[in-house]
Amino acid sequence: MSLATTFLFFAIHLASFVKLECNEEYHGVYGQQSLLQCNVKAVENVTILTVTWKRVEADPLLLEFHKDTSNLTPGFKFAEPSWNKDNMNVSLLLTKTKMADKGVYECMVTTDRGDDTATTSLSVTAKYITPTMSSIPETNIKENTDVTIFCNSTGGQQTGLIWWFDQDGYNWTHRTELVAKETDDGLFSLSSKFTVQKATSSYTNYTCKVLNSNGAEEGVASFVIQLAPQVSGTLWGKLGLW
Ligand SMILES: *[C@@H]1O[C@H](CO)[C@@H](O)[C@H](O)[C@H]1NC(C)=O
Ligand SMILES: *[C@@H]1O[C@H](CO)[C@@H](O)[C@H](O)[C@H]1NC(C)=O
Ligand SMILES: *[C@@H]1O[C@H](CO)[C@@H](O)[C@H](O)[C@H]1NC(C)=O
Ligand SMILES: *[C@@H]1O[C@H](CO)[C@@H](O)[C@H](O)[C@H]1NC(C)=O
Ligand SMILES: *[C@@H]1O[C@H](CO)[C@@H](O)[C@H](O)[C@H]1NC(C)=O
Repeated sequence: MSLATTFLFFAIHLASFVKLECNEEYHGVYGQQSLLQCNVKAVENVTILTVTWKRVEADPLLLEFHKDTSNLTPGFKFAEPSWNKDNMNVSLLLTKTKMADKGVYECMVTTDRGDDTATTSLSVTAKYITPTMSSIPETNIKENTDVTIFCNSTGGQQTGLIWWFDQDGYNWTHRTELVAKETDDGLFSLSSKFTVQKATSSYTNYTCKVLNSNGAEEGVASFVIQLAPQVSGTLWGKLGLW
């Protein structure tokens, strides 16, 4: 090897002594944790001096380890619960992913044997949560009276649909009313209303299904109408109350 090639060899060798490897992309879900994995690969033992995590498009650091202390932005932390400078797993954990968290993230690591920077990207999707159901009146409903049942869900990325079925699987959707609203976080809430006319004890269990804008089911719930306990005419008669 000539002097020049020897020098080049060492230059490349030194430059690549420490390598930061991140997975290319992640798909996060609104409201849940997202783990952005990055690991320091070194040929020999190294000690980490600094770690920074930031969004490529934004300046503020989300996480910084510097001079043996960590500065964290709320909602961001090292994925390793008791991370220290000998731990090569510098993955970032987003504790509650928001829609606005989508983007490209940059991690920079400096060690006693070299530095490296790598990026990874996060996309965020949102889903409707399991619907909650309620009725008016709530309880002690007399047979042959009307009952209005609600089926509500939030968190969808687009307006969705709510389908209704009774216990035999009959589709009552054509008799229901759906209201969709956009919520503060840019997501959607759905509230569907179904009035059961002349409720009877033979049909008390109703199911609603939440579908996203692509028609995929994202949540299902069932509700049992709380009818008043039945007292037959003959029993009233026997008790002398008729
Ligand atoms: C790396 O460092 C640790 C702790 O100082 C030591 O136990 C281990 O043997 C070292 N490994 C290598 C490959 O040098
Ligand atoms: C890094 O740490 C996270 C959190 O503990 C863990 O889920 C992940 O598997 C680790 N990655 C590697 C390559 O060990
Ligand atoms: C569902 O939404 C309706 C209309 O906004 C409301 O009256 C009802 O109380 C809600 N039910 C539940 C279980 O959240
Ligand atoms: C239920 O009824 C709605 C509205 O009539 C319809 O669009 C939907 O396809 C039906 N779903 C099933 C599973 O039959
Ligand atoms: C109501 O119907 C649903 C769907 O058929 C079923 O999963 C659920 O167990 C029923 N609930 C009750 C209390 O019977």
